[in-house]
Amino acid sequence: VQVFPPLNFTLTVSALAQVLLHWKPNPNQEEKNYTVRYDVKILSPVAEEYDTAKTHSIYTAVLHNGFSAQIRTLLLHNNLQMKSDWVKEKLLPLPGAPETSVTNLSCVTRITISSTVSLHCTWLPGQGAPEDTEYFLFYRYETYTEECQDYTKDKWNRNTECRFLVTHIDPEEIDNLIVIHINGSSKYATIKPFQQLFNQNAIEKVNVPRNVTVFLEQNDLLATWEKPISPFRKECFEYEFSLCNLKSGSKQILKISSNNFRLQIDVTCRYSIQIRANHHICLRRGFWSDWSEIIYVGKNDVLLSYNIITLLESRCCLI
Ligand SMILES: *[C@@H]1O[C@H](CO)[C@@H](O)[C@H](O)[C@H]1NC(C)=O
Ligand SMILES: *[C@@H]1O[C@H](CO)[C@@H](O)[C@H](O)[C@H]1NC(C)=O
Ligand SMILES: *[C@@H]1O[C@H](CO)[C@@H](O)[C@H](O)[C@H]1NC(C)=O
Ligand SMILES: *[C@@H]1O[C@H](CO)[C@@H](O)[C@H](O)[C@H]1NC(C)=O
Repeated sequence: VQVFPPLNFTLTVSALAQVLLHWKPNPNQEEKNYTVRYDVKILSPVAEEYDTAKTHSIYTAVLHNGFSAQIRTLLLHNNLQMKSDWVKEKLLPLPGAPETSVTNLSCVTRITISSTVSLHCTWLPGQGAPEDTEYFLFYRYETYTEECQDYTKDKWNRNTECRFLVTHIDPEEIDNLIVIHINGSSKYATIKPFQQLFNQNAIEKVNVPRNVTVFLEQNDLLATWEKPISPFRKECFEYEFSLCNLKSGSKQILKISSNNFRLQIDVTCRYSIQIRANHHICLRRGFWSDWSEIIYVGKNDVLLSYNIITLLESRCCLI
């Protein structure tokens, strides 16, 4: 049996960093006794292979350096597998002068009290970008795309930072991608666009643990706290508990996966305590939260003046 390759293979940019691959079954193909499927092989920017029974496929990838893929027909009959030749198609790199793209892009999301997600990105202008370059940032989340309206500029008046106080990012999703697209304009050069994909959970700056309470019970220090503001349940969080003995200057950081903690301490000493949070068990880690406000417990040694406490504290804080 002859296996014919699919026809009319086309690539269409259907959204930022998204390609629609589309093809037609070959009309010469004898289909009667076979299951017809298609092998899809993404060649660049990142190699990946999959197969599908459909005649289209939507693929997410950064496109600034172009995109290429090939497909072939796959006939399956019992254990028999027959393959056609590949048909290949590509998208050219987005145009622009060398080194005019932004570099060092980094983005952070936060979940707000009202359960929306804010987004903050920073970048550096490309080494080859003229001084009059103006950069524009867009984010795409699923089918929603928006341009930044709130930029911060560098000393040459070029945008290098953008803030979205509210986005369409769903705070309850796991492993969804945030697409960032930054292009620009200049009188003297074509600015090459730049795209990057971020996992929404991996760039979340976790909120601070709430209602931290610490007290002493005989020789034990007891601490309890609430999970940070987040739609994820409390089992998804881990904590770092920083305990600094202000008398000796020694500092301990303890990893804790519950919302409370008991530790035997020397109750003749005074301690400072801080807690920070990250999510981990149910979803990938983000950026550690800031440390909670310092809480002091234990005996206030009369010999220690305020200055000495401050000194020891700063010693403690050199991790
Ligand atoms: C379909 O399969 C049957 C039995 O397996 C075979 O006799 C027949 O020739 C096949 N038809 C075609 C068009 O290949
Ligand atoms: C930008 O990124 C490069 C390569 O990753 C790194 O070497 C450089 O230190 C970064 N620059 C700044 C200012 O962060
Ligand atoms: C930047 O990209 C957006 C989204 O694709 C597009 O609408 C806009 O025209 C581009 N601007 C420039 C200066 O290329
Ligand atoms: C924290 O404590 C305040 C006041 O005691 C209380 O109203 C609030 O519900 C607590 N928050 C959480 C998350 O338990």
